[in-house]
Amino acid sequence: MNDSKAFDTATRIIAGDDKTNYDGVAITLHWLVALLVLVQFALAETWDWFSRDTRESMQSIHISFGILLAVVVLAEIIWRWIPGHRVSSIEQGWVRVASKSVHYLLYILLVLQAALGFTIGWSGGHPIHLFGIAIPGPIGALSRPLRHDIREIHSWVGWTIVIVASGHALAALYHHYALRDRVFGRMFPPARRGELVA
Ligand code: HEM
Ligand code: HEM
Repeated sequence: MNDSKAFDTATRIIAGDDKTNYDGVAITLHWLVALLVLVQFALAETWDWFSRDTRESMQSIHISFGILLAVVVLAEIIWRWIPGHRVSSIEQGWVRVASKSVHYLLYILLVLQAALGFTIGWSGGHPIHLFGIAIPGPIGALSRPLRHDIREIHSWVGWTIVIVASGHALAALYHHYALRDRVFGRMFPPARRGELVA
């Protein structure tokens, strides 16, 4: 074992971390993604109920939050890619395969959703705005029918993310209340983990 590896292991042992808990960065990014997805969905599903001015403001917020969501999802993926940050699954057998598949599916859907969102945003031939800051796009204007189809796909992917994430959340709650293991608790900071793990 080289020095830095030995140091890493020693630090983890002192911290009581056996590589089966999510660290603070992973936990923060996970809950930020969950919150942003919820806000994005709520904005998009309700903006048609409002007057034109309010609707346009909600759409601008959706684009700004969408850019933030894309950055946070990328950060989450990069973070788990860095050696030492990926936690091992504490489930076994088919449950392990199923839970990992759902996690990968959620990452794929989130990246796809961001790509579709940026494409719609730039498809009018104008830059998109992050709270007023213009971000020009690499694509030119797209035809109306194509823009309509991409919006439709973006809407369906949005629903799929919300449905899959709801199943994922129910599974997490089942672990906590029925199986009484620490799967749910390890997505919270250590101070809260004690209360949450039954
Ligand atoms: C999981 C997160 C997201 C959900 C659930 C979501 C959902 C939706 C829905 C349902 C629509 C309406 C589509 C229609 O016209 O029927 C929409 C529009 C749109 N979304 Fe998203 N979206 C998400 C993330 C993003 C991201 C990351 C971006 C990237 C910037 C983005 C950009 C847009 C744009 C530009 C529109 C069109 C708004 C307009 O008409 O001005 N969205 N979104
Ligand atoms: C849109 C919402 C959500 C998304 C996109 C999402 C996505 C993810 C992803 C991708 C992972 C895997 C992390 C990794 O190891 O790389 C994960 C783990 C986890 N999520 Fe979520 N999540 C969402 C909402 C929720 C909610 C609402 C709950 C709880 C009620 C929850 C509880 C958990 C738990 C406990 C884990 C750890 C699972 C394990 O240890 O195997 N998530 N989530």
